[in-house]
Amino acid sequence: MTDTLLSIRNLQVEFRSSKGTVSALRGVDLSIARGECLGLVGESGSGKSLTALATMGLLPEAGQVVGGEVSFDGRNLLQLDRRGLDGIRGKDIAMIFQEPMTALNPVMTVGRQITAPIIRHLKLSEAAARSRALDLLARVGIPDPVARFKAYPHELSGGMRQRVMIAMALSCEPKLVIADEPTTALDVTIQAQVLELLRGLQEEMKLAVIIITHDFGVIAELAQRVCVMYCGKVVEEAEVVDLFDRTMHPYSMGLLGSTPSLESPLVRRLPAIGGAVPHISETPPGCAFNPRCGERLVVCDKQIPVLESIGRSQRVACWARGDHG
Ligand SMILES: Nc1ncnc2c1ncn2[C@@H]1O[C@H](COP(=O)(O)OP(=O)(O)OP(=O)(O)O)[C@@H](O)[C@H]1O
Ligand SMILES: [Mg+2]
Repeated sequence: MTDTLLSIRNLQVEFRSSKGTVSALRGVDLSIARGECLGLVGESGSGKSLTALATMGLLPEAGQVVGGEVSFDGRNLLQLDRRGLDGIRGKDIAMIFQEPMTALNPVMTVGRQITAPIIRHLKLSEAAARSRALDLLARVGIPDPVARFKAYPHELSGGMRQRVMIAMALSCEPKLVIADEPTTALDVTIQAQVLELLRGLQEEMKLAVIIITHDFGVIAELAQRVCVMYCGKVVEEAEVVDLFDRTMHPYSMGLLGSTPSLESPLVRRLPAIGGAVPHISETPPGCAFNPRCGERLVVCDKQIPVLESIGRSQRVACWARGDHG
């Protein structure tokens, strides 16, 4: 791919627990180009958030990167010390979380929360930062920015808080925004507005965006390319149109099958994948999906399939596909 901004290669994360060490990311491979929007989908527990957190150097205490590379704009993020990461987080890479109240400081005004990173990273004066913050609040569709600037987060609605978080994320003109389930906590109408806002900003600011979601509707709306994750690995990668039209991995087929569709909402809402995501301490050998897979071959519980290119943009890790199939 030309002009890659972020490249994650064979990223491995482990957690230590009383029972020993368990592997949560088992070699994640993905990359994103400047200005691109990449979707990251997969059932709960597949490792989407951990991929984002490991990239940002924000893993929980018990978690540890034990292998792989994360290269961002020519720098290896895994080798940066805390100061180095602080210079990138919130500046070149920003994150938007599902629940704004966990990311916003309840005892600090919205204005201060937006101006603080601007003053720190862009070294603007208080007055210049204020004017930039007001501009951002207007840009993310917040009515009466001057009044909202002085408000505390609890004085705003959920949709408005999410817009404030987006304004914060954009405050230092990041090159990459990672949005982890940014609209899940919002009601449907507000979800659509926030997605529309993100899409507009992505195009306008030529942002690279990684959008993490369970929802293929969100992917279809925003992303150009998508990576499907299962049990700490990317199992399929494709341009969004190809994923919908020529779904390769049996797991992706199951996920798409269990997405409600407009034509037959009731029928399609039935879960198409039997069984559940195994706990990370019980990841099956071989292809982790094999116990739930209707196309299982003899090799599937013995060897882990690697991501292989199929066609112009697709990659799939499945023994029943491509050269293997
Ligand atoms: N602090 C932790 N300690 C132990 N295991 C953890 C911890 N955080 C995450 N995990 C495990 O790592 C796996 C991946 O978690 P992750 O949060 O990345 O999933 P996810 O794909 O983002 O799921 P969701 O869609 O529910 O947000 C899960 O199985 C989870 O149990
Ligand atoms: Mg998550």
